Amino acid sequence: MTAIATLPSFLSLLFFILLLSSNPLPVSSILCNQDDKKALLSIKAAFGNSFHFSSWTDESSCCEWSNVVCDGESSRVMELNIFDGDLHGSIPDVIGDLSYIHNIVFYKLPNVVGPIPSALAKLKNLVYLTIRETNISGPVPDFLSELTTLNQLDLSFNRLSGSIPASLGDLRRLTSLDLSGNQLSGTIPPSLFQKLTTPEPPSLRLSHNELTGEIPPAFGKVGFSEIDLSQNRLTGDGSLLFGRSKPTITIDLSRNMFEFDLTHVEFPEAINTVNLNENKIHGSIPAQKTKLESLQSFNVSHNDLFGEIPSGGAMGRFDESCYLDNKGLCGKPLAPCK
Ligand SMILES: *[C@@H]1O[C@H](CO)[C@@H](O)[C@H](O)[C@H]1NC(C)=O
Ligand SMILES: *[C@@H]1O[C@H](CO)[C@@H](O)[C@H](O)[C@H]1NC(C)=O
Repeated sequence: MTAIATLPSFLSLLFFILLLSSNPLPVSSILCNQDDKKALLSIKAAFGNSFHFSSWTDESSCCEWSNVVCDGESSRVMELNIFDGDLHGSIPDVIGDLSYIHNIVFYKLPNVVGPIPSALAKLKNLVYLTIRETNISGPVPDFLSELTTLNQLDLSFNRLSGSIPASLGDLRRLTSLDLSGNQLSGTIPPSLFQKLTTPEPPSLRLSHNELTGEIPPAFGKVGFSEIDLSQNRLTGDGSLLFGRSKPTITIDLSRNMFEFDLTHVEFPEAINTVNLNENKIHGSIPAQKTKLESLQSFNVSHNDLFGEIPSGGAMGRFDESCYLDNKGLCGKPLAPCK
């Protein structure tokens, strides 16, 4: 009785399996969005149809191409991740036609040149933008502030010049900004991170540039997770970044011209890295330093500090190179105080 009743459903299942296996196209080939595919093939052409894109062929689904990730449901292109390739050319405007994309990466591409294309401003779903270790040049463009959903912007180690646009402060969800290793000049805009609508502590890296002026006083109220301003020409007070209750893990102000008194600075309790070497910092090293259990890196060499280096706690972790060339520091690991 049951055997007879299930027979028709068994037959329809068999029919369905036959139908599937007779279909010569894998399911994903049907799904690739034709507008996305057209845009990607134009990007390939803009880089001279480089071998890097050999899997990007007209016959296959763009969702199966290397460096491309599609959304499982909509099958629209969500990620373009191009790295380590011998690509020659500039990033073409047609990239602005990948309307649904949320992550773009161009990384380790020394022969990618030219400016950041303005068509990027069309990408209203972009959350992550990385153009790192390429030879792109020109300014950090103002139009990036139109990417209102942007959460992480990494334009580090390129050849960007000019000043940092104040309009980046309009990006309310931007919690990670890395512009290190460029030729940026001018001052740090006070607007950065002032309109954040997310509780996540922001990270700012501006090292290896030609920035001048002081740290904006408004930064004293930002609880950074990480701030790296090393290797610039910054002046004035760096102590405003510190504070016992701040969530900061890393503060790197090394190789600048900062001038402030370290004596009464309170270190964030979870701090891991404090690099202040090669500045004009005076005063003495606060005793609180010995109570910082997470502190792994501490360098105050080449400053104007004096007095006894506090002892005890985790102080044995730091060798004399961390204290060398100051006005009058003494005690372990330097010579005993007189
Ligand atoms: C930029 O190009 C120069 C040669 O023109 C090269 O030496 C350099 O490594 C390139 N920069 C990057 C970040 O790839
Ligand atoms: C501290 O900084 C100085 C000078 O910038 C450098 O020579 C030294 O190696 C650094 N020490 C450590 C442990 O990083």
